[in-house]
Amino acid sequence: MKEVMKSLKKLFEILGKWKYEYIAASMLLILSVGFRLLEPKILQIAIDKIITFFITGKNIIPGDDKVAGYIYILLPELKIENAVIILVYLGIIFLAIALLRGITMLSSSTISAASTEKAIKKLRDRLFNHLQHLPMKFFGTTPTGELIQRCTGDVETVRKFATMQVTESIRLTAIFTGAFIMMFMVNSIYALIAVMLFPVMIIASFYFFRKEGEIWTKHEAEQDKLTAMVQENLSGIRVVKAFAKENYEIEKFTQQNEEKRRWGLKLLKLHMLYWPGSDVLVYTQLAISLFAGGYFVLNNQLSVGEFTAFYTYASYVTWPMRRLAQLVSEMGMTRVAIERIYSILDYPREDYSGSSNGGRELKGKIEFKDVTFKYEDDEENILNGISFKINQGEKVALLGPTGSGKSTIISLLMKFYEPVSGMIMIDNKELGEYSPGYIRSKIGVVLQRAFLFSTSIRDNIAYSNPDTHIDQIVESAKVANIHDIINEIFPQSYETVIGEKGVTLSGGQKQRVTLARTLIKNPDILVLDDSTSAVDTETEFEIQKALRGITRSKTTIVIAHRITSVQDCDRIIVLDKGRVIEEGTHDELIKKNGFYKKIFDIQISIEDEINEDIEKANTDNKKSKNISNALSTLK
Ligand SMILES: Nc1ncnc2c1ncn2[C@@H]1O[C@H](COP(=O)(O)OP(=O)(O)OP(=O)(O)O)[C@@H](O)[C@H]1O
Ligand SMILES: [Mg+2]
Repeated sequence: MKEVMKSLKKLFEILGKWKYEYIAASMLLILSVGFRLLEPKILQIAIDKIITFFITGKNIIPGDDKVAGYIYILLPELKIENAVIILVYLGIIFLAIALLRGITMLSSSTISAASTEKAIKKLRDRLFNHLQHLPMKFFGTTPTGELIQRCTGDVETVRKFATMQVTESIRLTAIFTGAFIMMFMVNSIYALIAVMLFPVMIIASFYFFRKEGEIWTKHEAEQDKLTAMVQENLSGIRVVKAFAKENYEIEKFTQQNEEKRRWGLKLLKLHMLYWPGSDVLVYTQLAISLFAGGYFVLNNQLSVGEFTAFYTYASYVTWPMRRLAQLVSEMGMTRVAIERIYSILDYPREDYSGSSNGGRELKGKIEFKDVTFKYEDDEENILNGISFKINQGEKVALLGPTGSGKSTIISLLMKFYEPVSGMIMIDNKELGEYSPGYIRSKIGVVLQRAFLFSTSIRDNIAYSNPDTHIDQIVESAKVANIHDIINEIFPQSYETVIGEKGVTLSGGQKQRVTLARTLIKNPDILVLDDSTSAVDTETEFEIQKALRGITRSKTTIVIAHRITSVQDCDRIIVLDKGRVIEEGTHDELIKKNGFYKKIFDIQISIEDEINEDIEKANTDNKKSKNISNALSTLK
């Protein structure tokens, strides 16, 4: 029950801003229920006044029944000659009541639906906004597909509930209470008999609600996995095709889909048990009411008209009982959806506090002091006491085998994550003192995995500032050695829209566009994380040459695997397994004859081997050409 209250509180929080609209809608709804409750009274009067009077000549006085009394006052005098006119009057009153009921009902649902749409739009905005401000750690642990499911499917569940069931629950409560009061006013014992089975219904509904919540949670978890699977499959469709793994993927999907169906079926079974069960209860209750009513009439405790009205009221109290179950069932699903949505909303936002240094430029002195770090609490350290210094304007390389922690160092520098221990300083001030926004605006990183948005190349390059003049965009593109390609290959030059995930660009082209995107920020510190790994040596050389002008006085960190990409750096920091193992200029490190030298030797020997192979292939080619020439002359 506590959970239900919690979810309800959250639901009210979502809808809260429009509470006056909802109150107005509820008032109108209650009014419409009030009108509806008058309808059986017309029937009662028609039977008691007209039919009984004209058949038996007996004039039934309404007694305690005030409502019927008021309607009597409106009617002309009860005389044989007035029979038709009384009927016409009753008809008109009935129509007027129905009309009023319709109008109040319609305005109520219009108001509540409009408010719900607004509230849900706000919820969606809030979710997206919150997601944008969550720390990287959150995204590392939650699959994208799952988040998509929560932002769409779960929000939709809440929307449906808020549109249909919030006012519905008010309507049902009003009908139930109203009808009960109407009965109670005439015959209290009969009124109690008419709701006899209500407690049983409530207990059954509660059990159903609990069970449904459990199953629905599982169902939604399987749905999450399914969405995540589709999302991942489509993002990696090239890998799937390249490995001819379509059938494997289909199999995986089918299995997951089956798992979801299994839980769907469990839900269905629960419903199959519940609905007929509740029907039996409802009809038993109606039968009891019918029987009791008949008994009261026979004992002259009720008139036939009263009995007719009574029976209608009895059905008015019984049907909400059944609808209550549906309400409860949807409440169960909505509770799960709300919890899932709030698992995002309750996740603390990234801490955006900190100094922005008065917006001043960074000088670019960086220092890592004994920094340790791990992504998950229960894993081993990824960085093990990293210490190094980079002076203002220096160009330093980070080199090391894959997985040695190079990109992790950059993530810490960008404040994507917090170190477990140790200290990171920029310009002699601890990184923690700067706001993440400031640091990220001043450090330009070309991330290792090139990602482009599905917009034009121009918009991609000018991502940091959409108002950037085209000349500046072209200038950055030139440095990144992509300008000529954009102009020559792409039909609409800079306006060419990149297909989803940049599929229309080659890996190297994508890298260069992302390089241009970073350069245009004119950052104080430039970080290139493996950002020329996908371009050929010649292009890389061209880019390096063009970058030299820009990076001359700028602190620059270069991460690369090729020694040729880093040997002209002022200093090279060599990492292995999250530790700094060597440091120095290219020449110093070669002399040291350590890890760096080993990598250098391997790369050189591979290069030599390749060169030999190329030469050999060329001579072979020449030989075969000579042979084919000789053959053709022989012919
Ligand atoms: N988001 C993450 N969550 C958990 N572990 C991670 C995460 N990112 C990286 N790791 C782990 O941290 C270690 C260091 O990764 P990192 O990306 O820093 O290596 P790297 O030196 O940049 O390698 P590469 O040269 O291949 O880019 C790896 O063992 C990797 O498995
Ligand atoms: Mg890396």
